[in-house]
Amino acid sequence: MKTLKLFLSTAVLGTLAMGCTQEAEKPSEPKTLRQAYQDAFYIGTALNRFQIEESDSVMAEIVGKEFSSITAENMMKSMHIHPKRDTFNFEMADKFVALGEKYDMFVHGHTLVWHSQLSPWFGTIEDSLEFADATEKHIKDIASKYKGKIDSWDVVNEALNEDGSLRNSIFLQKMGEDYLASAFKWAAEADNGADLYYNDYNMTNPEKRQGAIAMVKNILDQGVKVDGIGMQGHWHLNSPSLEEIEQSILDYSALGVKVAITELDVSVLPNPWDLEGAEISQNFENSEGMNPYKDGLPDSIQVKLANRYKDIFSLFLKHKDKISRVTFWGVSDGQSWLNGFPIRGRTNYPLLFDRDLKPKAAYDSIMALKERFDEQQLAN
Ligand code: XIL
Repeated sequence: MKTLKLFLSTAVLGTLAMGCTQEAEKPSEPKTLRQAYQDAFYIGTALNRFQIEESDSVMAEIVGKEFSSITAENMMKSMHIHPKRDTFNFEMADKFVALGEKYDMFVHGHTLVWHSQLSPWFGTIEDSLEFADATEKHIKDIASKYKGKIDSWDVVNEALNEDGSLRNSIFLQKMGEDYLASAFKWAAEADNGADLYYNDYNMTNPEKRQGAIAMVKNILDQGVKVDGIGMQGHWHLNSPSLEEIEQSILDYSALGVKVAITELDVSVLPNPWDLEGAEISQNFENSEGMNPYKDGLPDSIQVKLANRYKDIFSLFLKHKDKISRVTFWGVSDGQSWLNGFPIRGRTNYPLLFDRDLKPKAAYDSIMALKERFDEQQLAN
């Protein structure tokens, strides 16, 4: 027995050794984004219907290899997943969750309570108590259906005005400010294992930041679970400043919650809100000035974008102990919502992959950054 065992193990070792030599001779595959950042935080992307269905094989390969987390761009919003008061449409959400399982990804649910893309039936309920009951049922039916399958939820999305006060949404009107703590309580009752987030845009603006902190603190003080704050991260080449981004990460994490960057994209186009007194109106459409790169992105802007991503990711790496996930709002420039918002019909370049699904300089810059970061860690 012993001899046989020895023989076997020698044979196995020999094969393994051969395998190793062959392995060593093979040129090593370049790392993917997912691999490069796996020890820092999840790297996510938002997926539309076509991506969830893996209709395009090149796109599907990028999603499966480059990202470790997914968010449904639209399919879990109430108007899609709960179109009528007594009817759910789980088909796409089920496919989305299955895709996450297939690629062993962190699956994020977006979003349970939001005034926008809201199913119209919410607006037909007059009575406040009935509205609260229906909201509780909405949250619990969805969160319990995906219990153990959705790793984190945006429980409430965009509840704040720019000055930090509460947005006068239908939820506030019907239920008062208790709707916030109630939403988190109901989500926790349905799935206590999922991380529960508050998510909003312009979270780096000092006034809104103070409002978000006060709001989340108030919920936590009631003994209700909030696990994280999501900064959407719809940013620009020059704003917000790196100081504001860093201070926001620090301030949110000081509450004792996780910080996620949940919808990252960097617009390279003129921002109508920067124009004094500008109205986002039809006037801007087809205006040359507002759509300067319709025939291609100049190299100088490509480099600016790559540097902006490098700077932002340097901050994320510096604070990686506070950051749970960085999710891009889409995979490639061609599918970005920023081609249609806030002005329809523009050509924007906010993401890491171009319209031909090729990695851009921005992709290379955050990969090179992580390589340098790892080398420095090793040297220290
Ligand atoms: C956007 C989607 O990307 C678009 O396809 C849709 O038409 C509108 O909504 N903040 C959010 C996201 O929380 O859900 C929004 O997504 C972008 C802003």
